[in-house]
Amino acid sequence: MADTRPRVWVSQPLFGDIVGRLREHFDVIETAAVGKHSQDEIAAVLASCDGALVTLNDRIGAAEVANAPRLRAIANVGVGYNNLDVPALTQAGIVVTNTPDVLTETSADFGFALMMAAARRITEAERWLRDGQWRQWSFETMLGGDVHGTTLGILGMGRIGQGIARRASGFRMRVLYHNRSRLPADIERDCDAAYADFDTLLAQADHLVIVLPYSTAVHHIVDAAAIAKMKPTATLTNIARGGIVDEDALADALESGRLAAAGLDVYEGEPAINPRLLALRNVVLTPHIASGSLATRRAMVSLAVDNLIAALGFGPRAGDPPT
Ligand code: DGY
Repeated sequence: MADTRPRVWVSQPLFGDIVGRLREHFDVIETAAVGKHSQDEIAAVLASCDGALVTLNDRIGAAEVANAPRLRAIANVGVGYNNLDVPALTQAGIVVTNTPDVLTETSADFGFALMMAAARRITEAERWLRDGQWRQWSFETMLGGDVHGTTLGILGMGRIGQGIARRASGFRMRVLYHNRSRLPADIERDCDAAYADFDTLLAQADHLVIVLPYSTAVHHIVDAAAIAKMKPTATLTNIARGGIVDEDALADALESGRLAAAGLDVYEGEPAINPRLLALRNVVLTPHIASGSLATRRAMVSLAVDNLIAALGFGPRAGDPPT
């Protein structure tokens, strides 16, 4: 007998035991393999769906939902949602959800680690050693910059930025941040962080960490002119979205010694990487894994599943026993 329950699409294989909860309420269309769906494929599958569980691989806007009369909710597995055209989806009556909070601490751990790896040349040193180039201990091998006692500049002081600031206090760092709006005094105190305008942040940071949500308004906000304001001994780490940094300007600065090092987890055309960055030794490159601890990725999927169930009207009601 045909399943007449609401239908939801899960756009890539996620944790089966968690996603399986959707089957209690919905007819679930699962996807067998990880990979990018074409815009036409997305539109075709959404045409018969009431909801969708998607990731940053799936770009969805007005065109993809134009023939999806039943679609009422899209749950994004991720805190960033620049893959979704929220105004267009809202206009079409579709609720969009994301997964904040559950990934904050894991992402902050990773941002800090990536910044340290860039400053202390950890992956560069490892490659050099594995290459068989370490012949004898020497005083000047792979000298890097310090992290403790330096100035950390955080661009974007949301939850993850605040998590990074709290980690910095253990390293006795001075923390400056720049944000669209200044944080309340109690949060600044809790993070031991001071507000700075963008230029001051660039000029004073020994380590700049980018944790800014992406929108077209901040596209290439870190461009050649911004990088020129930074110290030549500084590092730049990006765990937000690739489009915030002009990668060619960054490559120029890393090639010329205008900037000491970079740590990148995100790229403008990911998974394609700018070949100039790939060729550089003073940049640590990771494949968009800042939130990638097992526990956190499971928590993100679980929250997205809850969000989709609730958005389609099957969530717990007041007075229901906790599950
Ligand atoms: C997010 O949540 O936005 C990450 O970039 C992907 O996990």
